[in-house]
Amino acid sequence: MVGAVIVAPSGEVVGEGHHERAGGEHAEIRALAQAGPRARGATLYCTLEPCCHRGRTGPCAPRVAEAGIVRAVVAMVDPNPRVRGGGLAHLRARGVAVEVGVRGEQAERLNEAFVTRVMRGRPFVTMKIAASLDGRIAAQRGAPTSLTAGEARRAVHEERAVVDAVGVGSTTLLVDDPVLTARGPARHLPLARVVFDRRLRTPPTARVLETLGDGPVLVVAGAQAVAERPEDVRRLEGAGAEVVALDGDDIGEAVRRLGARGITTLVLEGGTVIHRAAWEAGVVDRVRIFIAPTVLGAEGVAWLGGGAAVLADLTAMHARTLGPDVEIVGDVHGNR
Ligand SMILES: NC(=O)c1ccc[n+]([C@@H]2O[C@H](COP(=O)([O-])OP(=O)(O)OC[C@H]3O[C@@H](n4cnc5c(N)ncnc54)[C@H](OP(=O)(O)O)[C@@H]3O)[C@@H](O)[C@H]2O)c1
Repeated sequence: MVGAVIVAPSGEVVGEGHHERAGGEHAEIRALAQAGPRARGATLYCTLEPCCHRGRTGPCAPRVAEAGIVRAVVAMVDPNPRVRGGGLAHLRARGVAVEVGVRGEQAERLNEAFVTRVMRGRPFVTMKIAASLDGRIAAQRGAPTSLTAGEARRAVHEERAVVDAVGVGSTTLLVDDPVLTARGPARHLPLARVVFDRRLRTPPTARVLETLGDGPVLVVAGAQAVAERPEDVRRLEGAGAEVVALDGDDIGEAVRRLGARGITTLVLEGGTVIHRAAWEAGVVDRVRIFIAPTVLGAEGVAWLGGGAAVLADLTAMHARTLGPDVEIVGDVHGNR
């Protein structure tokens, strides 16, 4: 998410642009096009360093210098290894005065998912859960339990409308048979649904496979199960799933595979076993807990041992009420 504004020496804004989508024209190029000759002698304010490589578009830094921009105020360096300061060096070499880091923290937050994928080679992972007041996520093991009311559910669908992928553990798929689509808010891009399913238990009749129009369904399975049960793989693929064979047990590797496919944001919607695996592998960046005013009692499935260890590791926590429910969001300390 990149924005650019060009300001003439008089203080007048002569050009504005933003990056609308991957592969689209970069923000500074759109701002320069709007400014035309008025870019000469002007200052460029940009949330991300102008690029110096030819990707799907660009490079932008030479265009900025050629347009006669004399000063560039840049919020953050582009973490992409093909840029990482190269755009700024180009501008400086062409006599443009460069200031970096102005509102840098805000820019990094705006682009946290992109930064995570570039720096860590995996998507930005949000762990989302609905829990009762006593920290339980289901009434019993194997029992689908509805906890939150309309407003909280709407918030979940709003999040699904803007991320690249939603993931669940295989038991949740078997117990709840969720479709994992964004219902309500408009979504224009495909939403990948991911089932973490080492033993390949996902049946070809899973309801999520009836929603392929919303996006692909990836079943991340153990390489051993895939090799031993080609018939099950064929059936799943026949139903439209994409089976991804993964060596070993590491959910960190599983999410890196998703990153390599271009998935930049993943919401891991539970249950507690897959959350624990992701938490212990250190691949969780944000936690969203919806607390419902219900007590499920000792028979209920506890979320991550009650959640104390998770809560102790969160920073920038904030809460809001959503109808009768409370949402608590925090970032994982050290992962940002
Ligand atoms: N309240 C809520 O927000 C919410 C959300 C989701 C679910 N739930 C409830 O939670 C219950 C299910 O949760 P659950 O905790 O029992 O199961 P889960 O987390 O949904 O799924 C667990 C399974 O994921 C598979 N898995 C794949 N990769 C793994 C890895 N690297 N590490 C560990 N496991 C991996 C394992 O099966 P394999 O060994 O076959 O791979 C494991 O048994 C249901 O009752 C559901 O209704 C509640």
